Amino acid sequence: MILKKLMLTVGSLALATSPAMAQKFPDVAKTPPMGWNSWNHYGCNVDEDLIRKTADAMVANGMRDAGYVYVNIDDCWQGERDENGFIQPDPSRFPSGMKALADYVHARGLKFGIYSDAGSATCGGRAGSQGYEYQDAIQYARWGVDYLKYDWCNTGEGPAQRNPREAYATMRDALYKAGRPVVFSICEWGDNKPWEWAQDVGHLWRTTGDITNCWSCQLGHGTWYSLGILEILDKQAELRNVAGPGHWNDPDMMEVGNLPSLAENRSHFAMWAMLAAPLIAGTDVVGMKPEIAEILNSPHIIAIDQDPLGIQGFPWMKTPELEVWARPLSEDRWAVAVLNRSSVARTHAIDWKAEPLSDGLSQRSAKLNERKMQIMDAWTGKVRGDTGTELKVSVGPRDTAVFILEPKK
Ligand code: GLA
Repeated sequence: MILKKLMLTVGSLALATSPAMAQKFPDVAKTPPMGWNSWNHYGCNVDEDLIRKTADAMVANGMRDAGYVYVNIDDCWQGERDENGFIQPDPSRFPSGMKALADYVHARGLKFGIYSDAGSATCGGRAGSQGYEYQDAIQYARWGVDYLKYDWCNTGEGPAQRNPREAYATMRDALYKAGRPVVFSICEWGDNKPWEWAQDVGHLWRTTGDITNCWSCQLGHGTWYSLGILEILDKQAELRNVAGPGHWNDPDMMEVGNLPSLAENRSHFAMWAMLAAPLIAGTDVVGMKPEIAEILNSPHIIAIDQDPLGIQGFPWMKTPELEVWARPLSEDRWAVAVLNRSSVARTHAIDWKAEPLSDGLSQRSAKLNERKMQIMDAWTGKVRGDTGTELKVSVGPRDTAVFILEPKK
């Protein structure tokens, strides 16, 4: 009897001290992550000097204070593994080492992100994490990594391909056990429908192939193709029911600053905000023109993106040339964006009473038949009357007007 009691006590003690179940880190992405990533502008041409200068520029041009806190190095930072299997950065590009670089970034009030791949090699042919997940996670924690983008190249073919759920969950568990909170960004291009299984695995998942800096195009690269802004946008609406705080659809890092016209850059930014997309800038921050910094730092557009309810927007009305998107916001407010996909200026009158502004998914309605809401231009912050009268909107070629509706006080 005494022995049985003792065994029970020992048993429950063991249970109480057993390590917590691995999970993704909660609370690190309650709103869509904001930051910068090297890939879209620099590709494999990354080094510590670029990262330091970019971090400094993000502080100087107001991006950090606007919310862009992650400074993320994409592919091609890797060198060889050491004799114990620990990954090392390319010594010619990162001679001071990753810990020193992370310290530099952290000292400026920013966070540090890195990239790896679930396969044997990254898309750029550097060492992948397959078989080294726990060791890589420990190394990242030692360096001070706060964000991991995890790619899907070289994961095997056909029946021999890694199981994506298992592969991403293994790295999630490794990161959790390493103990340093990390945003975990799943990058398998939507191939395995991560929105169906990754809510407990990652904080964001790519929904498409790679973005490229064109308004509307599909560029073939042999085995894969990249997509323009409109092509990516058009694939997002059907996924809105799976996004929310802590688990975001990722329509890819932004090309804001890399598109030819200011209007296109504005539209791209506005629509990513309407989608509650991660806002990861992908341009040259050091040489950024003030008008691009102004777009990226637009406080009301950022506030739409970062709204705490995290409800992804939806296409509300469509004419052949214009799309009006809507997004319910906190405090009974709504965001409305009028996107001109065409290459000529258009005008459009929004009759607020003609079409109910409501969202079945979130069960929210603006009730514009019963009340008037104040309209603010989200680019300028200026009030544009109320919903009691039609709103005449003029939108330049490929531009986007954005409004925030709020209850009258
Ligand atoms: C894939 C990803 C890109 C980028 C490159 C790096 O194509 O989708 O975002 O990370 O790999 O090689």
